[in-house]
Parts: sequence; structure tokens; C-alpha cells
Amino acid sequence: MSESKQLAGKHVLLGLSGGIACYKSAELVRLLVKAGATVQVVMSEAAQAFITPITLQALSGRSVYTDQWDAREANNMAHINLSREADAMLVAPASADFIAKLAQGRADDLLSLTALARPTERCPLLVAPAMNREMWLHPATQRNVLQIQADGASVLGPGNGEQACGETGDGRMLEAEELRDALIAFFQPKLLAGKTVLITAGPTFEPIDPVRGITNLSSGKMGFAIARAAAEAGAAVTLVAGPVHLPTPAGVRRIDVQTAQQMHDTVLPLASSHQIFVATAAVADWRPAQTNAHKIKKDGKKISPVFELTENPDILAAVAALPKGPFCVGFAAESQDLARHAREKLDRKKVPLIVGNLGPATFGRDDNALLLVDAQGERELPHNDKLSLARDLVREIAERLTEKR
Ligand code: CTP
Repeated sequence: MSESKQLAGKHVLLGLSGGIACYKSAELVRLLVKAGATVQVVMSEAAQAFITPITLQALSGRSVYTDQWDAREANNMAHINLSREADAMLVAPASADFIAKLAQGRADDLLSLTALARPTERCPLLVAPAMNREMWLHPATQRNVLQIQADGASVLGPGNGEQACGETGDGRMLEAEELRDALIAFFQPKLLAGKTVLITAGPTFEPIDPVRGITNLSSGKMGFAIARAAAEAGAAVTLVAGPVHLPTPAGVRRIDVQTAQQMHDTVLPLASSHQIFVATAAVADWRPAQTNAHKIKKDGKKISPVFELTENPDILAAVAALPKGPFCVGFAAESQDLARHAREKLDRKKVPLIVGNLGPATFGRDDNALLLVDAQGERELPHNDKLSLARDLVREIAERLTEKR
């Protein structure tokens, strides 16, 4: 599946209740459709005060439902028909009033009626709250949110920041991209539910002086994709990242480091409290034996400086050697002879699984091809985008953990 069609085949019932965040829902419809979903919009009366059904009809390509007495439905039961077709119902924005209605099971308009008439097993409910921070923090709203969660709804956000009213705090609706990604994540199988995963990603940077250093071409994309895939699969994920310019995947705890030694010192104390360790980082093998406190100057001399290097600790080998350590997955970034080098690393680092890839062919790119090497043999994960490969790898890891038990 191409990365852009993550919601192919999914039918989403998108409900809008009243709030200024309705303007973001227009973009959300566009993104969901672009991701391959079909989107049926239902609007409350208050929502129509903020955005017109025509806008959402144009973006979804389907006429919008607003009225429980809609005569277009042959059986005059729009609330039943709409939810029977849907793979999920997402209410974005969900106002404080709408959440209160959900909590009480009220059904006095088409949107609340549809939410109540949903077959809960087949059509799960996701809710993206949007309101002023005082309304969000009010005990009544907090009580209602707990109640709808207890009734099975997934609450997405809210975000924090500047609000339309001029105040700052919790209550902003998540951005359209975040809601699209949350929906994509929601549909992924929960293969790592309840598991803890520790991941290293990106290059390391070994300073020579305050302005120069030794690093490599790793972009961190594969490691970040694995962090996202593991979080989507229900794991609690800690990502220890070298210097990269990538956004943190939703729900992932990220710790930024610079050098191999810092990565080592961050990972080792965390390793025993995680069940899975995936070392995707391209850790610099060596660092300058001394770091100059000040910039090394040419000063008119024609002699180039000579640097002595010293070896960095091997993080993966150290974690694999822990007595009650996690299930370890190593990466082998090679420039040739992938299978041989990967197997050699499997033996040398004493880990159950090594994932081989050709470094120069993949560094910085959005796609890759992987070769899984373990005691049983080899398995190719053919050329694909990094997120799809990451999801395949998560499946492989989950299977191996089940076998181990
Ligand atoms: N690794 C690590 N710490 C290091 C070096 C490597 O944790 N100091 C991990 C990498 O994250 C990867 C695996 O070990 O999962 C293999 O890394 P790679 O650089 O391919 O192998 P090296 O052990 O450095 O061997 P070589 O450079 O000789 O190929």
C-alpha cells in the first residue's frame, strides 16, 4: 500500500458539532479523502453557523446530512443507515455540549442520534474535543469525558496553545494532519498492545571542536517510522534520537542526544524496563580522543591537524548482554554483501534478529528494502515506503515474541 492511501477502503462518518474549529474540519475532509477514505459528513445545527454544508459536500463529494427527518432516506432513518455503512465515526470538533450529550445518551438531533444508534462493535466512536480552556477544565466536562471513554469512545487530544478567544491553554482541536494520522493509527492491528519498546534512531555527532564534528548520512527516517508503527500497534514507545530534523510520532516519548556516549548512557538505564529494543541508530564507531574547547584555527600554518580516534561503546551489544534484557533487534547498514555481514553481526552482537539494509541506497530516502536475518534463516521485506516496512517489521517482532513465550 502506498503511503498516501493509508485509509483506502475505509468509510468514515465525520460528525461536526458547533465550534470555531469547524474550519479545520474542511481540511480534515480533504486529507481523509486524499488518504483514500470515503467520508460522509453529518453536521449539527450549531456547526452550520460556522461552516456551510456546501463546503463539506464539495470536499467529500457526498451530500451532507443535517436533519433527522431527512426525506431522502427511503426508510426515513438516516441515523440508522449512516452508521451501518461506516468503519468508524469521528466527531471533530466535539463541543462541550456534544460531549455532555454523548455522556448522557441524549439523542435530540441527527448527530447525537447517529452516535447513539451506532453498533458499537462495528462502528467505533472517536471524539476530537474543541473548546475554551475553562470549558475543558470544568469538572463537568472532565466527568463527561471520563464517562464517554468508559463507554468506549477514543478521545483524540485536545491540543494545547492559543485559542480563538485569545486565551492560551488546553482545548484546541488537534490539527487536521494529526486527526488523519490518529485515524490511520486507530485502524492498525494492536499487535504490541501493552508492550514497551525502546528505539535508537538517527546518526550521532562526535564533536571535534565547538563547530565541527564527525557524523554520517543517517536521516533517522527508518527509526522514526518504527517508533510510529510500534505506537500504532499499541506499544508504549521511547525513542532515543541523535541529531535529526524529524517530528516526533504521536504518542512517542522522545529523548534527544548528540553523541554515541550520550546515547549509550541514556539507553542502558532504560533497557531493562523495556521488553523490546530496536537499534536503528547509525552510531559513530569512533570519536575524537580529545575535543578542543575552542575552534581549531588555521593560523597561517600549512600543516593539517591529525586526530586520534577512540572507539565508542557498542550500545546494542551492551543491551543484548544484560541479564534480563529486552528482545533485541539490530540493524546492519552495509554497502555490499548484506546477508553475510548481517549474519556476522547476529553472531557478534548475540541478538535474535538483525535487519540488513544497504546504507547508501536508503539514507535520507523515504523507501527501503530490508533483509531479516535470524537463527532460522533469511527473509526479504521487498522494496516499499519506510512506514509500511516498519509495520511489517513490527509484525515480525510481535510474532517472535509470541513464539518466545
Ligand atoms: N550499534 C550500536 N552501537 C554502536 C555501533 C552500532 O548500538 N557503537 C548498533 C546499530 O544501531 C545497529 C547495529 O549495532 O543496530 C549494527 O551497526 P553497524 O554500524 O552496522 O555495525 P557495527 O557494529 O558498527 O560494525 P561495522 O561498522 O564494522 O559494520
